[in-house]
Amino acid sequence: MGEVKQLSVSAIRNGTVIDHIPADSLFSVINILGLEHITTQITFGTNLDSKKFGKKGIIKVSDIYFTEQEINKIALVAPAARLNIIRDYEVVEKHQLTIPDEIEGIVKCFNPSCVTNHEPVRTRFRIISKNPLRLKCHYCEKITDEEHLTII
Ligand code: CTP
Ligand code: ZN
Repeated sequence: MGEVKQLSVSAIRNGTVIDHIPADSLFSVINILGLEHITTQITFGTNLDSKKFGKKGIIKVSDIYFTEQEINKIALVAPAARLNIIRDYEVVEKHQLTIPDEIEGIVKCFNPSCVTNHEPVRTRFRIISKNPLRLKCHYCEKITDEEHLTII
């Protein structure tokens, strides 16, 4: 008898699977996507064995398809994650996440005196480095780095 291959988390019929999430980023991704507000079926697993990461996390959300803005947010905390769109049990799209060159309204500016922390101005950054992540504010020109990253 051959090796039995089992899914650790069941397959879904329709929706989104975010796979290859580094295990230590799983809960950040859950928070960023606001999954606590979703009323459709959600399953997730973490510390699952992965050839690529050693340990990985996975999130499966039924009947939900995220916007580009939401996907970009995931890329900031888990750039290696992969997003799969499932329709009728089939993977119909597979997206590699990419950190965009510019981001708007996702991250808080680290500078307490920045206008975006005092007025209702949407934050805007240019990504000056992706690894480690370094974001330059369009308004105050201060750098927000990975260590001080706060997702709005
Ligand atoms: N998946 C699912 N429900 C389905 C189909 C797929 O939950 N009906 C999940 C799989 O468990 C997997 C992901 O979606 O975690 C991607 O599926 P697939 O491309 O078939 O898996 P792999 O080839 O292992 O993908 P990758 O190369 O990204 O590891
Ligand atoms: Zn700023």
